[in-house]
Amino acid sequence: MAVRPVVVWPDERLRQPSVVIETVDASVRELYQDLVDSMYAENGLGIAALQLGDPRKMFIVEPKLAGRPESDPPVAFLNPEVTWVSEDQQDSEEGCLSFPDIYVKVKRPMRCKVRAMGLDGQTFEIEGEALLARCLLHENDHLTGKLLVDFVGPLKRTMIKKKLMKVKDAADAEA
Ligand code: NI
Repeated sequence: MAVRPVVVWPDERLRQPSVVIETVDASVRELYQDLVDSMYAENGLGIAALQLGDPRKMFIVEPKLAGRPESDPPVAFLNPEVTWVSEDQQDSEEGCLSFPDIYVKVKRPMRCKVRAMGLDGQTFEIEGEALLARCLLHENDHLTGKLLVDFVGPLKRTMIKKKLMKVKDAADAEA
């Protein structure tokens, strides 16, 4: 149980191939708890394991956004798969804990369905619309190594890199 530092782009750990989770054991539950603590510490709506430098194929989503009571724990998605996306699209600004203070306009399907294994080892499917669909697709992108910068042109990419390297240098100077 711990808040762990979120890996910030261009850290190469964000591009690692993700590894399928075979069974929900104590170390998977520990990873879940670290994700929960780290997401809440950063006020995120979701976070993927790769963002803590862990290659296991898992992300979590904040309970209220996932359609659960606010007092519920965040919803865990193990080995998720996008099974359906709508034709209709949405287009709005998107942020990411691995890109602090960066927002990128990303076009995504308005609705989607994601199938995953829960922490109880059971398969479930969830349908998301609007912000939930955006969040599910964003977190799923993390597990395939796809990041916000992959949606922008080379000029904006360089700008983002410069900005985040400055953030990194400041953090290194503090440490
Ligand atoms: Ni993200």
